[in-house]
Amino acid sequence: MPASPLRTVVFVAPFPADTTLRFCAAVGGLANVRLIGVCQKPPPNPGALGFQHIELVNDALDVDQLTDAVRRIQGVVGPIHRLVAVLEDLQVQLGHVRERLGIEGPNVRTASCFRDKALMKDVLRGAGLPCARHKMLHSEQDLWDFVEQVGFPVVVKPPAGAGCRSTWRVSDPQTLVEALRDTRPSPARPVLAEEFLTGAEHSLETLVVNGIPRLWSVTRYYPSPLEVTEKDWIQWCVVAPRERDIPLFERARDLSFAAIKAFGLRDGLTHMEWFHRPDGSLAIGEIAARPPGARIVQLTGIAHGCDLHVAWARAVVDGAFDGPFPRQRAAGVAFLRGQGKGRVSKIEGLDEAQRKMGALVVDRKLPEVGQPRASGYEGEGWVVVSHDRTEVVRQALFELITTVKVSYSGA
Ligand SMILES: Nc1ncnc2c1ncn2[C@@H]1O[C@H](COP(=O)(O)OP(=O)(O)O)[C@@H](O)[C@H]1O
Ligand SMILES: [Mg+2]
Repeated sequence: MPASPLRTVVFVAPFPADTTLRFCAAVGGLANVRLIGVCQKPPPNPGALGFQHIELVNDALDVDQLTDAVRRIQGVVGPIHRLVAVLEDLQVQLGHVRERLGIEGPNVRTASCFRDKALMKDVLRGAGLPCARHKMLHSEQDLWDFVEQVGFPVVVKPPAGAGCRSTWRVSDPQTLVEALRDTRPSPARPVLAEEFLTGAEHSLETLVVNGIPRLWSVTRYYPSPLEVTEKDWIQWCVVAPRERDIPLFERARDLSFAAIKAFGLRDGLTHMEWFHRPDGSLAIGEIAARPPGARIVQLTGIAHGCDLHVAWARAVVDGAFDGPFPRQRAAGVAFLRGQGKGRVSKIEGLDEAQRKMGALVVDRKLPEVGQPRASGYEGEGWVVVSHDRTEVVRQALFELITTVKVSYSGA
């Protein structure tokens, strides 16, 4: 095999989050890559991740600052092969910088289709793909009009949100008034309203290489992220079933592939959320061009016997795929959390869980006494399990979340 030429890859990693750094390390581990970081706060040991240099910026979400940083890097090392990031909030910005500086990769339009939930739905519908009816709200009246048209419940959320931030299920006039008070739609700050989709919510990931989805995977959420946000004490699970090639999932796969084509993504990971509705039909919730959260990267890697971080790096840096990575196992994760505020004061049931499910556990981060309550929906800890059979994984997770109890004390 001919040796690959030296490629300079700029990775925008504003903060040293574990999930981001794993992707940095995957790029840094590729042969003949010169990895350069753009950070607000650099990782503690950049050299160990393969970084040869870190360029600091004050605000990594600012297109002008990013452009200047990449220009400075170009001035020192010459042409930039790829400019990448895994955070959702950065994808459109990077599209702008690539367009300004002539760097290959997703442009502003492609990045915006995956990021702007209203544009996304316009393009999906234009391509004949099912999704919720929606309306951009520029005033309070717009929401009343939308509810008049589609009926309760509706969902109200930021057009470019993430992690269920400021996402409201509006089922009655009182909640509608509260949601308006919280979101204050105006022409300057429009808010998105959507018809409420019912049914079982799932995700579907694809690794796209040279415009062709080469690997795809499915998970099911128990329960939906919105319910997990609304009831911030429930422990919840994500399951990647071993049986992927079944008609239901293949229909979802076809929707995802069609969306990727309509949005024009050439290389990258996508994360689609979709609903299996009670009437049997499917609807796309959203689709993003970045690695999924909720440990789905890890679950997908276990299910397919590969390291998805490396597969992503190969796709976005080299347009290469080292698969096929067939589906081999089921995997799942349980997120541990409880009711209350303050700091973790007690964790019960761990010994019993260890006795019952210990053999299935492949990775875990257990909550620790004294740890402050986490702000996101992933809780204070998690347990990843895996087995040949989906049913075993599902049962182990459900039993785990009924066995382990996290308590808090303090304000
Ligand atoms: N139109 C909808 N119908 C039903 N549930 C929805 C709808 N929109 C959002 N949700 C719920 O809210 C969650 C978060 O919304 P989503 O559009 O995925 O934004 P985010 O970028 O915050 O993940 C979804 O996973 C789903 O559970
Ligand atoms: Mg989502």
